[in-house]
Amino acid sequence: MTWKITFTCLAFIFSVGRSSAQLKRDYTFNYASQKKVNCHNGAVVSAHPLASRVGTAILKKGGNAFDAAIATQLALAVVYPGAGNIGGGGFMVAHLKDGKNIALDYREKAPILASRDMYLDSAGNAQLHLSQDGHLAAGVPGAIAGIFAEMKYASLPFKKLIQPAIDLAENGFAITAAQAKALNEYRDEFLQRNGSPTAFTKDDPWKAGDMLIQKELSATLKRIRDKGQKGFYEGETAKLIVAEMQRGKGIITMADLQHYSAKERDALEFDHKKFHIITMPLPSSGGILVEQMMKMISEKKIAKMKFQTAAAVQLMTEVERRAFADRGEFLGDPDFVKVPVETLVSDAYLKERMKDFEPGKAGSSTLTKPGHIKESEQTTHFCVLDKFGNAVSITTTLNDSYGSKTVVTGAGFILNDEMDDFSVKPGVPNMYGAIGNDKNAIAPGKRMLSSMTPTIVLKKGEPYIITGTPGGTTIPTSVFQTLVNIMEFGMNADDAVNKPKFHHQWLPDSLYIEKDFPVTIQKQLEQMGYKVKPRSAIGRTELILIKRRSIIAIGDKRGDDDAEGY
Ligand code: GLY
Repeated sequence: MTWKITFTCLAFIFSVGRSSAQLKRDYTFNYASQKKVNCHNGAVVSAHPLASRVGTAILKKGGNAFDAAIATQLALAVVYPGAGNIGGGGFMVAHLKDGKNIALDYREKAPILASRDMYLDSAGNAQLHLSQDGHLAAGVPGAIAGIFAEMKYASLPFKKLIQPAIDLAENGFAITAAQAKALNEYRDEFLQRNGSPTAFTKDDPWKAGDMLIQKELSATLKRIRDKGQKGFYEGETAKLIVAEMQRGKGIITMADLQHYSAKERDALEFDHKKFHIITMPLPSSGGILVEQMMKMISEKKIAKMKFQTAAAVQLMTEVERRAFADRGEFLGDPDFVKVPVETLVSDAYLKERMKDFEPGKAGSSTLTKPGHIKESEQTTHFCVLDKFGNAVSITTTLNDSYGSKTVVTGAGFILNDEMDDFSVKPGVPNMYGAIGNDKNAIAPGKRMLSSMTPTIVLKKGEPYIITGTPGGTTIPTSVFQTLVNIMEFGMNADDAVNKPKFHHQWLPDSLYIEKDFPVTIQKQLEQMGYKVKPRSAIGRTELILIKRRSIIAIGDKRGDDDAEGY
């Protein structure tokens, strides 16, 4: 997977601070995904090699993990448009060198004109095409507010951090084979959703190595560079978003954009053995689910069962089932609904939850309404560690791949379809098969429940693991399995990410396994009574593991993911 690419902008990656005149020369560059790096100073791992390299260049120039994270995030919005974004939202979990832990919420919000039953027809039937595609599916974007909230911890000027993204958008970059395939797959949807041509379609099919040039996106990024957060939420960009809404009967208004703000929340923190886990609180369900699952296995001596034996997989499946049942029942935006978080993660409650666990026998999800798990790479995760001891773990999303497929005319970026993460109607599964109730019902200004689980683990107070993944509802289970692989089974970083994963989410009552999951174990699980269903990749986990100041960064084998470091 190597392409010979001729373009100017990548010169920046090796030359932060050089004049643009120096950069304006042809530059031949081969890039390929590097799946593993061992290093000592700092590392970046993300879904795209060019984004990882942008971040690493910032680290090498003396930037801290926040500088590198911001530059990586903005680069992903250009080179990984299926999920990297400025039209969506995300979460950051970070550990500062002074010991402080941070959780930053820049999840999209329901627009002011949104209402509980906005996706129901007159007979009360859910109209999921409206919550999943097109203008009405978009929540108020939070990504740019999030980036400016991250700037509080950065050390370099914003102009330096956004310039690589501007250059990549302006001059283009060579797309990968996977990106060419996805763009061809979504061609018709892009054409249907957009009144005028976008950068994402062309007459001939896309192929690996084709240049994707995004001039309108570059202009938007320049407005953000020059005007800061107002370059997105006010002025020209805001006007273009509202005009796009009017064109497609969307409901995001100028007031929605002006009132959007990111929010620092208390990170969810808990101990497991000698490890301290820091993860995302509500409105992500991910952190609570991981805490519940880790606590439900904690007395079961899973390490002795060994990795991916039928006994270990069964135990983990049953804790996944129980955690997801609670997700559907109890979780929603804590600014709008009361959630009994303390109880849900308490030892007594979780002990009770596991009372009916029977080794060797499949449990049962008694409720009906089976969902359908969509297999797509809708979200993206990246991890950064710097030489100062700061660790950053960020997951961002447009929801579905390429979000609502609606590109803001004149502004060149794709809007999310995050409204589908609300419970459109109690009991009706969303695109990931997740169901919910009133706790996650739509209300103006409310944030939709997420599964994104950016996570950091400390050992003796120092960063030990930085991880996270895309994958909708498979996110908490993938993070859970990655942590258990390392902290219980003593697995190395590479295997912890790349060995086959499995997933159970209560409803539908099926145990999903990756195609390379061992057949003998699959058969044993079927004999216990599980409905086992092979499926495509589960998550794309990024991981940085730190062992005695030695850094190992792993990009998931399941995509173009890339680990860089120095
Ligand atoms: N849109 C996927 C998530 O937030 O969980």
